[in-house]
Amino acid sequence: MTATTTTDFVEPTPSALLLLGRASDLASERGVECPGALPAPSDPELAERARAAKAALGDRVFVLGHHYQRDEVIQFADVTGDSFKLAREAAARPQAEFIVFCGVHFMAESADILTTDDQQVVLPDLAAGCSMADMAAIEQVEEAWAVLADAGVAERTVPVTYMNSSAAIKAFTGRHGGTVCTSSNAQVALRWAFDQVGGVDGDGKVLFLPDQHLGRNTAVLQLGVPLEQCVVFDPRRPDGGLTAEQLADARMILWKGHCSVHGRFSVQNVTEFRERIPDVTVLVHPECKHEVVTAADMVGSTEYIVHALEAAPAGSSWAIGTELNLVRRLAKRYPDKHVHYLDSTVCFCSTMNRIDLPHLVWALESLVDGRVPNRIVVDPDDAHWARVALDQMLALPGA
Ligand code: 13P
Ligand code: SF4
Repeated sequence: MTATTTTDFVEPTPSALLLLGRASDLASERGVECPGALPAPSDPELAERARAAKAALGDRVFVLGHHYQRDEVIQFADVTGDSFKLAREAAARPQAEFIVFCGVHFMAESADILTTDDQQVVLPDLAAGCSMADMAAIEQVEEAWAVLADAGVAERTVPVTYMNSSAAIKAFTGRHGGTVCTSSNAQVALRWAFDQVGGVDGDGKVLFLPDQHLGRNTAVLQLGVPLEQCVVFDPRRPDGGLTAEQLADARMILWKGHCSVHGRFSVQNVTEFRERIPDVTVLVHPECKHEVVTAADMVGSTEYIVHALEAAPAGSSWAIGTELNLVRRLAKRYPDKHVHYLDSTVCFCSTMNRIDLPHLVWALESLVDGRVPNRIVVDPDDAHWARVALDQMLALPGA
């Protein structure tokens, strides 16, 4: 056997290539492909180039920007919003030939599903995935459904998937009579789902994918489902780690997934802020853990957080538990209000941050040159069923 030395060439593994920004993993939310010349991040002309490319494209392009995007990118968005607002905005622009989605992969997939066949959706960097969405693979969810069927509960269960999931998971939900929800309509979506199986006080169940925290927070705090009737299905354990009896007794079957950004906030963060600033209002996103949401004063989606800060009186103090780009932007926008980030350490959503100005310029200039880079296209059968679930969401009362 030949010993491997440090000078030997070692074939890089696919995951190493992913980390290096080359290669792609099309079966998951992660994927990287960026052919052509990417402008240097230090190029002082970048903002001007983005402006010129957008002007050259005119009404042919529509740029959507999620609230968690960097300032350097968000300045070029035609519309900013949370994932619900952006899904609606994408569906309302049939005249735009190109939708450039400054957000993450699952949002661009939803935009592709909701737009016409003539429209093309572009994600400036395919590495802008979502670790939470990656926590539920379609094969795992199909297996979980088989476990529910074996336990005799599948026919009394409605699947509800958070927008933060792949198109394949949304399609699964559509095929099984469920719906998609976002953090701004989760309460209405869950109530609707329970109504399909006898109401919140009946014995029907919801399989909630993939964020256990949004599912638990909404069910317990907004619908009054007892905490002990929320069970966690762990796809890495046999039968999800649950007995048939536990499944039969549960009302909410929560997928074992979470957001790596919002999952960082702790009750200690809340306590420390209250000690430091006694009149502080703690406002967190519902992707935070249940004990953090319970310790906070207010909870809501990113759009809710934006409106709450807008309406806040001058001089008021806020500790916000959501992504840092948004918190910084709000602090800058309202210098007369004291806006703090709830965590003590800096933490951006690294995948949201993959969309930077060089990638946006590269995407826009490619379109000007007649090339469509990083087009997001959902498999037609998945697109059909995911659309059924998305349309169900858009038809919910108050949507
Ligand atoms: P909303 O946009 O629904 O508030 O979700 C936050 C989020 O984590 C998006 O990835
Ligand atoms: Fe995913 Fe969390 Fe980032 Fe949103 S903030 S894209 S849920 S990892």
